[in-house]
Amino acid sequence: FGTMEINNKGNLQIGGCDSINLTKEFGTPLYVVDEELVRGNCRTFKNNFSLEGIETEVIYASKAFLNLAVCKLISEEGLSLDVVSGGELYTALKAEFPVNKIYMHGNNKTANELIMAIQAGIGRIVVDNKQELELLEYLCEELDKEIDVLLRVNPGIDAHTHEYIQTSKNDSKFGVSIFSDDICCLLEKFQISRRINLKGFHCHIGSQIFEEKSFYQGISVMLEFLDRVKKECDFITEELNLGGGFGVYYSKVDTPIDLKKCLKNMLLLVKEKTMEMRLTIPKVMIEPGRSITANAGTTLYEVGGTKNTYGGKNYIFVDGGMTDNPRTALYGAKYEAIVANKMKLENKAMYTIAGKCCESGDILVKDIVLPEVERNDVLAVLSTGAYNYSMASNYNRIPRPAVVFVKDGQARLTVKRETYEDILRNDLLI
Ligand code: LLP
Repeated sequence: FGTMEINNKGNLQIGGCDSINLTKEFGTPLYVVDEELVRGNCRTFKNNFSLEGIETEVIYASKAFLNLAVCKLISEEGLSLDVVSGGELYTALKAEFPVNKIYMHGNNKTANELIMAIQAGIGRIVVDNKQELELLEYLCEELDKEIDVLLRVNPGIDAHTHEYIQTSKNDSKFGVSIFSDDICCLLEKFQISRRINLKGFHCHIGSQIFEEKSFYQGISVMLEFLDRVKKECDFITEELNLGGGFGVYYSKVDTPIDLKKCLKNMLLLVKEKTMEMRLTIPKVMIEPGRSITANAGTTLYEVGGTKNTYGGKNYIFVDGGMTDNPRTALYGAKYEAIVANKMKLENKAMYTIAGKCCESGDILVKDIVLPEVERNDVLAVLSTGAYNYSMASNYNRIPRPAVVFVKDGQARLTVKRETYEDILRNDLLI
């Protein structure tokens, strides 16, 4: 992916940096981010989610991977930012991300999170439900502020890899079903609000989607909904946010869609359908997270040793695990790995890569063929740029790894490695 190559020492090189030198300088485990690839992905979205006659916006879903340096990069690339918590919002504000380009999500935003968002004057709050609307109204009155919002709706589409299925309409914890009978009643509440300005709707049909048709189906269902609220509730939709979910390659089981084609087709469909239905074309937004950062991330580990079990399993033990990448344990996610200091050697043996946590499920990769691995080798797990650092934990009191950005042979530390002192930071001895 991106700027990955093999150098003349037979080592993996990313962004012009020898991965083995990176481990010597920054230690292991280490998250390495190919900055050019993240920027390239931002540009692919910006350049291809565009069509004459439609206003568009690409919003990076920061839950995938966020820190101050990521905020700066996303802002430099001209994308907007989706945050789902006070912590993500705080990071964006500290990084001086343009506030008018921040969108705030969440099915249970606390009053404090809403106050923070209102006071900062962020671009849009995505309202989840009626109670939140009432709370927001109250808070805006108290603070003497106004706010533009979108309403999160649930279009009843549950997209899965390779297929999409209709779920029962009311089982999602997010948003309001587009099929609910009292939707006009709810919209009326927005319309009479003095403080809250409803610009349109938001939906998100799922994540790691490989079935292009799911996106198109989402658009069709949403446009029918826009037509219905126009006719039944007299509501003209100015903005339509279609969420994220574009699937990426992690391993051979993944077959990503042709992104450029899909983005264009989505907008063509919006144009065609709105004309057919005689609707005003809304501004259309998308919120990719994983597809911006996943393939740009690599985690480097040092091998502590190997073990052949009585049952015939061949383990490689690395100095990280489910604390820095919980996705295999959590979702059965499949990753590819390589031996970063043995890139020119032939694959010979079948291994299972296990972490160091006190848990049998702490496996990073099952059954992978690699060159013969020994203690002190450096193992690279690929495509760890999304939902790894952001989902990392301190289980077993293991400090979180450092994050470096690499580009043109330069490595920039963007998050320091946690220390044992950091682990104790909030502990009190009474
Ligand atoms: N917008 C909304 C409202 C979302 O809920 C999400 C993801 C996104 C955008 C971005 O979706 P993406 O483009 O990244 O697929 N932890 C899981 C993924 C959870 C996704 C939650 N929502 C994982 O590691 O696979």
